[in-house]
Amino acid sequence: MHYWGVPRSLGAETRAFHLQPKQNWEPDWDEFERAVTPETRLVYLSNPNNPTGSILSLESMRRIVARCEKTGTWLLADEVYQGAEIERERTPSFWGMSDRVIVTSGLSKAYGIPGVRIGWIVGPQDIIEDCWSQHDYLTIGPNKLSDRIARTAVQPANRERCYARTRAVLQTNLPIVREWVSELRGRLSWIEPEAGAIGLMRYESGQPSVEIAEMVRVNQNTLIVPGSHLGIEGYLRIWLGGTEHFLRSGLQRIGAELTHQLK
Ligand SMILES: Cc1ncc(COP(=O)(O)O)c(C=O)c1O
Repeated sequence: MHYWGVPRSLGAETRAFHLQPKQNWEPDWDEFERAVTPETRLVYLSNPNNPTGSILSLESMRRIVARCEKTGTWLLADEVYQGAEIERERTPSFWGMSDRVIVTSGLSKAYGIPGVRIGWIVGPQDIIEDCWSQHDYLTIGPNKLSDRIARTAVQPANRERCYARTRAVLQTNLPIVREWVSELRGRLSWIEPEAGAIGLMRYESGQPSVEIAEMVRVNQNTLIVPGSHLGIEGYLRIWLGGTEHFLRSGLQRIGAELTHQLK
């Protein structure tokens, strides 16, 4: 919700383009070109993507960059899930594809250390200077312990160890979730994520996703994300991270509720 909520709160007009499940979560290019025009100041996207867990093809990345160059639009690529690929090779960065690219990332996802609250931004020098200036208003400085942990984590050898740990967790958990979905006998369907600990699942009943998520919360004391909060009604986003025991227990609770709610 904050993808469009934050810019709107600053007075911006926002237009969305959606990844299409029928096109293996690639954009609808007509919709993309309608959304990104010479009036557009900035395109924001996350790749690998939350909530689909999908990764754009290189061809799509080039197409997005070309459109931004043509329309004079900044491209802000949130690459916090880069390194959290489950089976495939590392996702290429948008960085370096054009002078109009800005990249953000941090330690919260692929590195698996969200608690340190450290991230970064890469972009043209004048933009980064403006960001520093804004940042200095918000915080006097990073927490020193976090800073120390972050400096250690981003050392190339340690970074690879963090990514390997994330990959191992996801490679253990994905088959557990796959089996859970099949045991629900068609109540849920999904395109499995290529990266990240998120499963975006479709259900067929006409029930609002927010009602389903609320029943799972109230009756099972478990949180899932309703698709309507992500701009895609008819879907539920279910976490697939955590230890095996924790994941299985959460899935068992969600499954009990969905078996009851979705006939
Ligand atoms: C696309 C995206 N970017 C960034 C983050 C992490 O944010 P932070 O670095 O504030 O923990 C998330 C967490 O859900 C995310 O989904």
